[in-house]
Amino acid sequence: MKAVICKEYGDYHNLAFEEMDDPTPGPGQVCIDVRAAGLNFPDLLLVQGLYQMKPPTPFVPGAECAGVISALGEGVSGFAVGDRVIAYTMNGAFAQKVVVAAQSLARLPEGMDFDVGAGITTTYATSYYALKQRANLQQSESLAVLGAAGGVGLAAVELGAAMGAKVIACASTQEKLDLTKAHGATSLINYEKDELKAALKEATGGKGADVIYDPVGGKYAEPALRAIGWNGRYLVIGFAAGDIPKIPLNLVLLKTASIVGVFWGAWAMRDPKAHAQNMAEIFDFYAQGKIKATVTKRYEMQDFMGGFDALAKREAKGKLVLVSS
Ligand SMILES: NC(=O)c1ccc[n+]([C@@H]2O[C@H](COP(=O)([O-])OP(=O)(O)OC[C@H]3O[C@@H](n4cnc5c(N)ncnc54)[C@H](OP(=O)(O)O)[C@@H]3O)[C@@H](O)[C@H]2O)c1
Repeated sequence: MKAVICKEYGDYHNLAFEEMDDPTPGPGQVCIDVRAAGLNFPDLLLVQGLYQMKPPTPFVPGAECAGVISALGEGVSGFAVGDRVIAYTMNGAFAQKVVVAAQSLARLPEGMDFDVGAGITTTYATSYYALKQRANLQQSESLAVLGAAGGVGLAAVELGAAMGAKVIACASTQEKLDLTKAHGATSLINYEKDELKAALKEATGGKGADVIYDPVGGKYAEPALRAIGWNGRYLVIGFAAGDIPKIPLNLVLLKTASIVGVFWGAWAMRDPKAHAQNMAEIFDFYAQGKIKATVTKRYEMQDFMGGFDALAKREAKGKLVLVSS
């Protein structure tokens, strides 16, 4: 089979698409013929050695995929060769085949394409965990999403709208804001043009936002927090801008607000039952047409570099997937 291989940490341009041995499933594992794999900002961080985890090199990146089971390891029950599945792999999904623990599989829901299934776990599970378990988002509350046209951002826009919140999308270009509007945002802020604190106050009628979802960090975090409402919840998702903000804590005191950390992957491992329940609810939203989970850009697996470039250059919009034909 062929796979994207990271031979050493550093410049992502050194990634190669090369032949390697087919993997064999061990006890409790299955082999999946990958049809599509979700590409996320953490993949870019990982291969550069900038992520919180560092697998030994060489390794195949790619945290999630959808495909068809092609072989079963010893002791696997409940799945059969030919089943269409979604897998959270941690690594290894940017390949024509990947071996994963059977317990990390979900069945691809009826009516869901492989590419949608490949990209739904990281973005939607992160944003749903953030909004549901961490922010306890309520109907009619205001939800401001920074980086709202990005992978996790657009998922937060859709889920926030599906949960009945008033979604304020914040992004750097009109094109990105237009995309968020098509996915449920009702107020739009271009934070490169307009002063973010003032714009958020205006969008919330002076009250401030009930919940702020921040996957960007950098220069936007402090002005956003200054526009949080009474009892507000500020969700720390990530730092796509590169800089980790240093926040004056008096801002939290003054609004009785909370700054809430979100590490979905670690939580899903600690509480797999609650994660499975969240995924079932996400699939229900999809079946009812309350979320679209649109794939905005597909790349053939061998053209993976285009996707990495888009993420690195701040050009990616919505969900990117690598497809294996
Ligand atoms: N906490 C968790 O469990 C968890 C899970 C998944 C991902 N994450 C994190 O969430 C963040 C976003 O991931 P993603 O996959 O949604 O990425 P993405 O699709 O690239 O979106 C990131 C957004 O950040 C904004 N941005 C601002 N400065 C940027 C820069 N210098 N380079 C790139 N983007 C920049 C962009 O929006 P504008 O141009 O509109 O500003 C972009 O749309 C990452 O830091 C990732 O590690 C966290």
